[in-house]
Amino acid sequence: MSTFRFDQVTVIGAGTMGRGIAQVCAATGSRVQLVDVDEARAAAGHDAIAASLGRAVDKGRVTAEARDTTLAAIATTGDMDAAVASADVLVEAALENMEIKRTLFAGFAKNAPEHCLLGTNTSSLPITEIARGCGAADRVIGLHFFNPVPVMKLVEIVHGKETSEAAVQAAQEFAQRLGKDPILVRDSPGFATSRLGVLLGLEAMRMLQEEVATAGDIDKAMELGYRHPMGPLKLTDLVGLDVRLAIAEHLHKELGTATFEPPQILRDMVAAGKLGRKSGEGFYSY
Ligand SMILES: NC(=O)c1ccc[n+]([C@@H]2O[C@H](COP(=O)([O-])OP(=O)(O)OC[C@H]3O[C@@H](n4cnc5c(N)ncnc54)[C@H](O)[C@@H]3O)[C@@H](O)[C@H]2O)c1
Repeated sequence: MSTFRFDQVTVIGAGTMGRGIAQVCAATGSRVQLVDVDEARAAAGHDAIAASLGRAVDKGRVTAEARDTTLAAIATTGDMDAAVASADVLVEAALENMEIKRTLFAGFAKNAPEHCLLGTNTSSLPITEIARGCGAADRVIGLHFFNPVPVMKLVEIVHGKETSEAAVQAAQEFAQRLGKDPILVRDSPGFATSRLGVLLGLEAMRMLQEEVATAGDIDKAMELGYRHPMGPLKLTDLVGLDVRLAIAEHLHKELGTATFEPPQILRDMVAAGKLGRKSGEGFYSY
């Protein structure tokens, strides 16, 4: 057992991910403070959690009592410093921007208690870089949750160069307490999930480009042959072709292997505004 505690969790950013993380922490017995740039945005996050739990109650997946207990355990605030000062664990889920995250972590290192684990939900930024010079790099760790957080079992724990063994252990305990199944990954481009997931997507696009098979049949190959719940092209439509192009460019630059070079078909489709589900057209029409 580590000396870290998980009673009071502060989640920074009440958007898609912050809401889900707050919900899961509260549902598993922590008190949660959900922070955003102002109280109104944090409160909107609370409203969204209430609506999502309401739907879960309607479907019989959550009892009304559990919903009420979970919602009562989540406080909202725009007062970041106070919420940070009283945290046992911080989970940062603000924007995916290095400057914003570095500024936030410098503040956490200054204001959080010394026992507090400093987690970031970044999906792509290097943990070592976020932590560099903040003054508490040994406690900074990647806690990469997946959307929708209440449903997805995985937490990718990413340890930076300076992250201590105690912090790694605490992160594992924390993830397990939330009912998640964590994996441990060294801080490297794309961590484990993006590096593998994007690679499969890019290869599927190259196969489509070479007319090896139709999009539907390429997806079916993985769905029926390998039990993937969704084929790599369908998944790319869901994530957004523009998002995947940006990740592929980043991985190509960082890892230097031709496997991550974005295929022409991806560049052409993004240039034509075919971004997947969100634009109504990608490898499929919606
Ligand atoms: N959406 C996903 O599927 C997903 C999956 C895994 C990881 N992530 C990562 O999680 C993080 C959050 O993503 P999201 O999709 O929830 O974003 P989002 O845009 O839905 O929410 C971000 C929230 O952070 C708030 N915010 C911005 N700057 C802030 C600051 N300085 N202090 C406090 N709050 C601030 C915003 O007002 C907003 O409410 C990103 O780092 C992203 O890469 C996203």
